[in-house]
Amino acid sequence: MIFDIFRKKIDPDGTLEVLKTDIHSHLIPNVDDGSHSYDFSIQCIQRMAELGYSKICLTPHFQSYKFKNDEDDILERAEKLRQAIAEQNIKMELIVGGEYLVDSGFRKRLETNRFLKMNNQYLLIEFSFNQAILGINELVFELQKMGHEVILAHPERYIYFYEHPEIPKRLKDQGVYFQSNITSFTGFYSKRTIVECNKYIANGWTDFLGTDMHNSIYLEALVKACQDRKFRKILDTYQFLNNTI
Ligand SMILES: [Fe+2]
Repeated sequence: MIFDIFRKKIDPDGTLEVLKTDIHSHLIPNVDDGSHSYDFSIQCIQRMAELGYSKICLTPHFQSYKFKNDEDDILERAEKLRQAIAEQNIKMELIVGGEYLVDSGFRKRLETNRFLKMNNQYLLIEFSFNQAILGINELVFELQKMGHEVILAHPERYIYFYEHPEIPKRLKDQGVYFQSNITSFTGFYSKRTIVECNKYIANGWTDFLGTDMHNSIYLEALVKACQDRKFRKILDTYQFLNNTI
């Protein structure tokens, strides 16, 4: 039943072709809370190709406690996934990045300066969902000074941003790129994310869209969001940077 999502026909007017690249996904099997099998990853990538994507950036979680991934191991696993989809004749370019949580161990990473970045250029970071981080502007400045172009994942999901819009404003002023999740536009996480996504779009603050793909529930929500009239209007009129990757 759960795999019905792979059988429904995709509406040719409801694709994401204009984006070309998905910049945020958890499709390397068994490294985080994303895909738990090659089967799912392969079928999901096939489905994303049908949705119009031609490139996916794999961005597994890098955290100090829960998902202690290692960059070399991730590169190896990404290569295996590339081989697996090539064997199935799926046309999809897979590039590798990471989603780095700014937690108490994050500063240590600055010492080694070892990060997996999209196109060796963009560093995708995320924050705690419910607790503001002290000194975030200084940290971002340091990252930028080191030559990293910083993308903040799903700003619409940080609860403390709602009462403190000066936090995202300051990050924007610093030149941080914002990546919203497509499914946030249709309330997959909460109704509030719809309001926040629309606000960021109205401000011209959104730079990229991502699927943040984890499992079949996310995939189902993505296919549904593609059909959403309001989301489609944004997709038709707003200039996202995804197709520059
Ligand atoms: Fe993510």
